[in-house]
Amino acid sequence: MKERNLDVIKGILHEAVRKAGFEVDKDHLHVEKTRDAQFGDFSTNVAMLLSGRAGRRPLHVAEEIAGQIDSKIFAKVEMANPGFINLWLEQKFYTEQAELWLDDFDKYLKESFALSEKRKAVIDYSHPNIAKPMGVHHLLSTVIGDSVKKIYQRYGWEVISDNFIGDMGTQFGKLMAAIKKWGNMDDIEKDPIPALQKLYVQFHIEADKDVELDDEGRAEYKKFEEGDKESRKLWKKIVQWSLLDMQQIYDRLGVSFDHMNGESFYEDKMKSILDDGRKKGVIVNGDGGSWIIMPDEPEDVPVLVRKSDGATLYATRDLARIKYWEDEWSPNLMLNVVDVAQSFYFNQLFFAQRKLGLTAARNVHIAFGRMQFADSKMSTRTGNILLLTDLLDESEKRALELINEKGVDLSEEERRELARIMGIGSIKYNILHQARTTNITFDWNRMLTFEGNSAPYLMYTIARAKSVLRKADLKPKDCRKYDLKLDLEIEKKLMIQLMMYPDTIRRAAEEFKPNHVANYLYELAQDFNSFYNGNSILQAESKELKKSRLMLTALVIQIMSDGFKLLGLEVPEKM
Ligand code: ARG
Repeated sequence: MKERNLDVIKGILHEAVRKAGFEVDKDHLHVEKTRDAQFGDFSTNVAMLLSGRAGRRPLHVAEEIAGQIDSKIFAKVEMANPGFINLWLEQKFYTEQAELWLDDFDKYLKESFALSEKRKAVIDYSHPNIAKPMGVHHLLSTVIGDSVKKIYQRYGWEVISDNFIGDMGTQFGKLMAAIKKWGNMDDIEKDPIPALQKLYVQFHIEADKDVELDDEGRAEYKKFEEGDKESRKLWKKIVQWSLLDMQQIYDRLGVSFDHMNGESFYEDKMKSILDDGRKKGVIVNGDGGSWIIMPDEPEDVPVLVRKSDGATLYATRDLARIKYWEDEWSPNLMLNVVDVAQSFYFNQLFFAQRKLGLTAARNVHIAFGRMQFADSKMSTRTGNILLLTDLLDESEKRALELINEKGVDLSEEERRELARIMGIGSIKYNILHQARTTNITFDWNRMLTFEGNSAPYLMYTIARAKSVLRKADLKPKDCRKYDLKLDLEIEKKLMIQLMMYPDTIRRAAEEFKPNHVANYLYELAQDFNSFYNGNSILQAESKELKKSRLMLTALVIQIMSDGFKLLGLEVPEKM
């Protein structure tokens, strides 16, 4: 297998480190682009890393390693304080890489990530609760989860998505009680979702005044759990209505799932786990006849897996899910994309699964923060629920306004299509470009603008690059035999940024952070725009220069389109 892009450089450095008498793991050998062209194209801190262990001065170690570098790909190698090795590459190297990229983009990336063995992940995201409106945190989970899935697929993994829909739980009891009290089935059937939402809200308002209502809800749920025929029938209907409603949102977002095994799917799969846990002595008696799993650390809290009345819990179903995933797919990685409010719960779940020995796969809770609205009117309160469909409509509407303001040269129909791509894309990009572990700010003015780190800015940039190739009547692949001439600093900078793409994907996958891809694309767009604004491509001074610049433009299109895919964004053809 041929090494690709930065891995070529890493390979050479690795060899030089060895020859100089040191040792370093390839994963710890970092090659980064430099902030300033006077420090080379790329730079490594490996000498600083090794000097500590060897008790030597970093600059001396750097010199020894640099002395062993034996390759024609470097135009220049220099040391810099306190122990960096700065590297300048020959244009020929860049041209070779560019040719490989353009010749078969897919293959190039696959070979960049060549895995020694097959790797598999199962991912659970979105998971709204039926009988409740889909909340903003479910939107975050859907968008982040879908992107993590796509990034892992790009990274060479097989990925299975399984939506753990909340189709059981006490909210059903509440809704059923509300339907019985105030509902009219014929009216509900006509337009179920708004009707159910109204009843749900009404229940919460009334329950604040009358505590007995909650008991009624609980009693309804118990009836359902015990298999009461009427309750089961009603439940089935509610599930079907809600799934149809959810599907509309999924279609608009362009997300799909391989499986939709909700909580109820595990109703008959819990007993064996409980029995097995009892036999092993991992599940022990808790208060009042309940069953619990004790933690290893005394300060941790036990996990309740069966209530004293024999009812199971959310955690019991989640344990059954882990076992099912293991039996069905035996993946290397099990991922749950769930808001940070459930971190404590996932800790509990994971130690319980370890004690039960359900799987050896790595279980990861991919946590994300809350959505913070710049516009206070938009936060959710009982009685004033923010509906996701309204949010998507509003975004498309604002996108259309923006397009009309800019006065792009498109037909009415093309404008609407662009507004859809941009409206949905802006919602997604706004979520994905922010660090998921902190709160995510939602601000229309920053999302829907052609300036700054926004989806419209990126879309505008790629449309621009595409129009250059269209005018030259070329497809990206047509440019593969051209030669790169990177004489201007900005041309070099752009190429260096392009080279960072595979490493960016690797990092985004390993840290489960799509924002690395988003911010990479933003930097790339900025580099391309300064290149484009300062230089003519089609009117370049010479034929060679024109070809080189077309080749760069072709690479920008390829990589930006690919990055868009990983974030679940559509690429506009014209703008
Ligand atoms: N349905 C749950 C909620 O909305 C989230 C489910 C998360 N996934 C899981 N495997 N527990 O709170």
